Amino acid sequence: MAECKKEHGECGNGCFVDSVIHVDVKDYYGKTLKKTSDLKSNACLAPAQPIPAFVLKALKKIHPEVTSKYYGCGLVVPECLEGCKLLDLGSGSGRDCYMLSQLVGEKGHVTGIDMTEDQLEVARKYVDHHTREFGYEKPNVDFVQGYIDALKEAGLEENSFDIIISNCVVNLSPDKRKVLSDAYRVLKDGGELYFSDVYSNRKLSDEIKNHKVLWGECLGGALWWGDLVRLAQEVGFSPPRLVTANVITVDNMELEAILGDYQFVSATYRLFKVPKISNKASLVIYNGNIAGFGESLEFDAQYTFKVDEVVEVDGEVASILSHSRFAEEFTFQPPGVPAGCGVKKPKVGTVNPFELVLQLGSATVSSATGGCCGAESSCCK
Ligand SMILES: C[S@@+](CC[C@H](N)C(=O)[O-])C[C@H]1O[C@@H](n2cnc3c(N)ncnc32)[C@H](O)[C@@H]1O
Repeated sequence: MAECKKEHGECGNGCFVDSVIHVDVKDYYGKTLKKTSDLKSNACLAPAQPIPAFVLKALKKIHPEVTSKYYGCGLVVPECLEGCKLLDLGSGSGRDCYMLSQLVGEKGHVTGIDMTEDQLEVARKYVDHHTREFGYEKPNVDFVQGYIDALKEAGLEENSFDIIISNCVVNLSPDKRKVLSDAYRVLKDGGELYFSDVYSNRKLSDEIKNHKVLWGECLGGALWWGDLVRLAQEVGFSPPRLVTANVITVDNMELEAILGDYQFVSATYRLFKVPKISNKASLVIYNGNIAGFGESLEFDAQYTFKVDEVVEVDGEVASILSHSRFAEEFTFQPPGVPAGCGVKKPKVGTVNPFELVLQLGSATVSSATGGCCGAESSCCK
């Protein structure tokens, strides 16, 4: 084998070197943890918002061995999935992939990428089982071994996915900028990164960042939320939209003593690959045709669109809605609606998940509702 460099990355002759963090995290999720209850804190387990009935129904069809190794911290179910091509960053044992496999339908596709062989082994073991369970002729899920901070090397092509999701994984990577820029690269124009992760209320100390167990537990590598907002835009995404936020209590005295007064939340953000913002506010009307969202669409913590209601959206959201898979689901600047007359003004928005938790005065802020999983409109063609 070639003389390898010591940092994470390709070093020629097909060899790829893991950083210390990659080695430790692989060990944690491959060997140390066997099941969800082995976790030493509740960070990778933060209670998600109430689960909509159509998601519960999809989750019930997933093999128990897959769900027993679920380590997510949120609910990653963006709307308008029918026919879409999805990528799950850090898919683990595959729970979210198999749930989303049902929501994209037989014509859609879900790829999971993970670096840990033991996790992939469980995920791959049940591909045929789920294909039969969902009544599909052939699998619409596959699992790739690779790094979320090296998607090109994993063979994932530029502009090839409609949506990327991720559940409690970005914090585990030592190079968050690379994760975001690689995700941006493989998304199609108009595509979306919809992901749940752990965030801190300020930049973490080196002592915390260097603590192996805290890193493995999704706390030591957590970004300060403000860094996520900055990094996302630096790599080209639209300003992040905050969907939900949920307090993490840790619940481990030994780890709490090291963490001191740092606070953590799990939060779900949506980032879009759309042209730079026009900064022109717009009036929009939701048409109610998205499967499962026949009455209203809770887009994020700031905007809920009820069918046929005229809503004033800011320039950022106008750009997102008009350049993404949502474009056909809205009427923009409807003629004959005088400004201010019967127009719903949005509430004040925030991208700070700690502020959102406080604003709502409770630990959980939910945006995901929905009914059954039908197939009224195809969102990705
Ligand atoms: C907290 S678990 C979450 C797994 C899954 N998303 C779930 O909800 O069950 C983190 C997963 O991310 C994977 N992972 C961590 N860092 C990674 C990286 N840099 N590249 C690829 N996979 C990574 C781990 O192997 C592990 O399976």
